[in-house]
Amino acid sequence: MGDGDRREALPALALGRAGAADAPEIARLARGVMEEAWSERGFADQASKPGAVLWTARSGARGELLGFLVGERILDELHVLSVAVAPATRRRGIARSLLARALEAASSAGVEVVHLELRASNRAARSLYEGFGFVAVGRRPRYYRVKGKQRAPTPPHDNHDNQNNQNAQNPPNPREDAVLMTPALSAWQNPRPGP
Ligand SMILES: CC(C)(COP(=O)(O)OP(=O)(O)OC[C@H]1O[C@@H](n2cnc3c(N)ncnc32)[C@H](O)[C@@H]1OP(=O)(O)O)[C@@H](O)C(=O)NCCC(=O)NCCS
Repeated sequence: MGDGDRREALPALALGRAGAADAPEIARLARGVMEEAWSERGFADQASKPGAVLWTARSGARGELLGFLVGERILDELHVLSVAVAPATRRRGIARSLLARALEAASSAGVEVVHLELRASNRAARSLYEGFGFVAVGRRPRYYRVKGKQRAPTPPHDNHDNQNNQNAQNPPNPREDAVLMTPALSAWQNPRPGP
């Protein structure tokens, strides 16, 4: 069964706030599922910032980490930086639960603006956010690196010709656009009901 298939709901899910102590576990999960995952240090630093927003989803039974959401709050704005779920437990509403909880907490704390960016090709994430009323409001061209598709550096002896020739030999590394999303007015406080 692939990630895109619908699965039965998880029997029990524990959602909670996380901190720097959870960074090693979160980084391990991120490494396995994200194209440009932060390091353990990156998560720990992020979690220690004053406006840090870090939620985890764990299996109720064993406490195993199944997913996380990381964001940053600045005054009345929430920037959702990332959401990720372990491949084996996808399509069971974990990301939706994490996002719902984070948005609910943000709203209670006075957040009025939510924004995020995602890879233009990330249809799963886009559909997740659209379910909460997010709409695309902009694009950052070539914002993300495309992993595994970097061109090999041209050897120095091949790289002596005129500018046009150099461009032909050295096409820019592949990059991917970011789509910027924000919820349509108040929509994020009334997400589409999940299963
Ligand atoms: C995107 C991701 C977080 C979704 O996690 P998830 O727990 O499987 O998502 P949910 O089960 O809560 O799904 C909620 C909604 O998201 C959308 N969605 C999730 N996975 C999808 C997929 N593979 N294809 C299409 N839509 C998908 C659907 O609208 C879904 O609602 P539905 O199940 O009622 O149709 C997960 O696929 C993931 O970790 N991807 C890798 C990391 C990543 O790309 N993160 C986003 C960075 S911005």
